[in-house]
Amino acid sequence: MIILGIETSCDETAAAVVVDGKQILSSVVLSQIEVHHPYGGVVPELASRKHMEAIVPMVDQALGASGIDSKALDAVAVTRGPGLVGALLVGFCFAKAFAYALDVPWVGVNHLEAHVNSVFLEPDPPPFPFVALLVSGGHTGIYHVTSHTDFELMGQTRDDAAGEAFDKVSKMLGLGYPGGDVIDRLAGQGDPKTIVFPRPFLDKTMFDFSFSGLKTAVRRYIEIHPDDYLQQVPDIVAGFQEAVVDVLTYKILHAATVKGCDHMAIVGGVAANNRLRENVRHHAGLKGLTVHIPSVALCGDNAAMIAAAGYHYLKKGVVSGLSDDVYSRVNEKH
Ligand code: KG4
Ligand code: ZN
Repeated sequence: MIILGIETSCDETAAAVVVDGKQILSSVVLSQIEVHHPYGGVVPELASRKHMEAIVPMVDQALGASGIDSKALDAVAVTRGPGLVGALLVGFCFAKAFAYALDVPWVGVNHLEAHVNSVFLEPDPPPFPFVALLVSGGHTGIYHVTSHTDFELMGQTRDDAAGEAFDKVSKMLGLGYPGGDVIDRLAGQGDPKTIVFPRPFLDKTMFDFSFSGLKTAVRRYIEIHPDDYLQQVPDIVAGFQEAVVDVLTYKILHAATVKGCDHMAIVGGVAANNRLRENVRHHAGLKGLTVHIPSVALCGDNAAMIAAAGYHYLKKGVVSGLSDDVYSRVNEKH
């Protein structure tokens, strides 16, 4: 089944052509980072407008690069939510119209489930069941995954998502938006042991997260050291990153133990973090567990993962209808 995937939930306009939920023929992503950078975060109205400009060229580009004529498409999959409503609507309405014109089925998929399915686009995917740590800008959670479409939420963040904490700390230090990538690079030049921030484990037997206190601890450090913190930025971000990585590593390994899973997946934008990848691999190795992390291009938002998740719904006979709508929050899924 050849599927066109479309993603417009936040600040990336993406399109991809994927065969049977695993073989990527093409995957293109247009980031709006430059547009939102001056505002220190995503401006929803600007995001929608940029998606409007980009959606047709991006789909054309994905089809062109795939070598597939649109008439050869079997279906269209598109992000339905969660995300920014105005941004989601651009991709969703385009997908409806495009599928209608081609007379093929289409399906709206959950963005978070799609992130988990990104590991199936890599060689050597995990066998079911496995536990997945989803760490992105909007969400942080741990799932017990029993099939491509069955997810039990074991725990999630009670406040800031991990990526959001990276972005807010970056903004505080004047490093710009988004902050994950720049902190990842700068932390490599610092010492994580010079400034030790608290590890927000909450209840160590539970899988919920809280990163807002850690972010406040960084803010307090800056307030207490107004004259010298600028010289300490690499050590500050290394200390902050190490605290986040410690908590994420502990919780996903604990989840694997509790569920008796030998395989773990780490997905979402923050899964690109070098220290997180290294630390989870190291601790998993010590316990004889296998960890699956997509290549960096598939950690961030992309449309190949949307096509992959959509494939498994379509295979089960799930299709969307013209009256279906997007949803902004995860608990609105129906
Ligand atoms: O999955 P994603 O592209 O979009 C959402 O669905 O939210 O994740 C974006 C998040 C941002 O908060 C960004 O700062 C973070 O992923 N991120 C990283 C890294 N690269 C991106 N965080 C830590 N280290 C990185 N290398
Ligand atoms: Zn995402």
